[in-house]
Amino acid sequence: MKLFKPLSILAAAATLGLIAVQQHSSAQTKQYLIGFSQLAFDDPWRVAFNNQMNKAAGKYSDFKLVTVNAQRDSAKQVADVENLVQQKIDLLIISPNEAAPLTTIVKKVYDSGIPVIVLDRNVLGEAYTMFIGADNKFIGTKAGAYVAKWCTTMKYRPCNVLEVTGLSGSTPAQERGAGFREGIKKNRNIKILSSVTSEWQKVKALPAAAAAFQAKTNFHVVYAHNDDSAEGAYIAAQNANLDLKKMLFLGIDGLPDKNGAIVSILQGRLGATFVYPNGAAEAIDWAHKILTKGEKPPKKITLGTDEITTENAKAACEKYDCEK
Ligand code: FRU
Repeated sequence: MKLFKPLSILAAAATLGLIAVQQHSSAQTKQYLIGFSQLAFDDPWRVAFNNQMNKAAGKYSDFKLVTVNAQRDSAKQVADVENLVQQKIDLLIISPNEAAPLTTIVKKVYDSGIPVIVLDRNVLGEAYTMFIGADNKFIGTKAGAYVAKWCTTMKYRPCNVLEVTGLSGSTPAQERGAGFREGIKKNRNIKILSSVTSEWQKVKALPAAAAAFQAKTNFHVVYAHNDDSAEGAYIAAQNANLDLKKMLFLGIDGLPDKNGAIVSILQGRLGATFVYPNGAAEAIDWAHKILTKGEKPPKKITLGTDEITTENAKAACEKYDCEK
């Protein structure tokens, strides 16, 4: 009996201590599950995007990132998001394949209290925590202005354009198309003779452009909504025996890898590109501030771009550390 009391006090103290230690360590190691719904994994821009997302999330030991691939299928992406919610994610990051089909699920997640960060392509309305992306209208306008200048220098009257668009239901395609039409207003000799779609994919750009070149051969400019599609159209123009030296091919993305547009400009295929950042690092940093500090982010963060042409491609290669 005599020993019992001090021992039980000791035991109680030890238990308390243990609880205290447990509480302390669980506060230190609270883990957050971040769900990333990516629209596709099958092109170089998305691959770079995913790599940067993994790298950014790797900086935070309290973050676990789960990335899912919608394979360019909006219905699958809706199911992917539902699945992530079932896995009890603390925050959703999404790059939506198309705006309209993803709007309802994004709103549902946001309304349920899970923060949602939308990247690169947008949904309709503003039922999300924040949007991070470049200004696609601005980029399209810059591309149009570049074409306007080029057509003047080349003295092409008219100056005929083939447009190769991204997926029509995705916001960058809509905005890059609208911006381009603004930009070319500076030169009344420019005519968009045909507009075809590649849905962002090089494999689809090639036959779409081939059909356009078969119908009409008098194109001076190919404005593609992304570099992959510009490269696909370039191959189609080569196959159609067009005089490539008299033509301008331009796209958007400006990747620095060896198959990317900066190297393509140096090798003489593309004439211009515009850097399109993905926002992965910014999204992860904001996710961390939202979850660990309760910070309220701005509704929208607009990322910058960079115009890369034959004039500055060499310097851009140094700046972006491109692979040669
Ligand atoms: C990659 C991509 C890019 C383009 C972006 C638009 O999947 O097609 O080439 O800039 O998506 O969202």
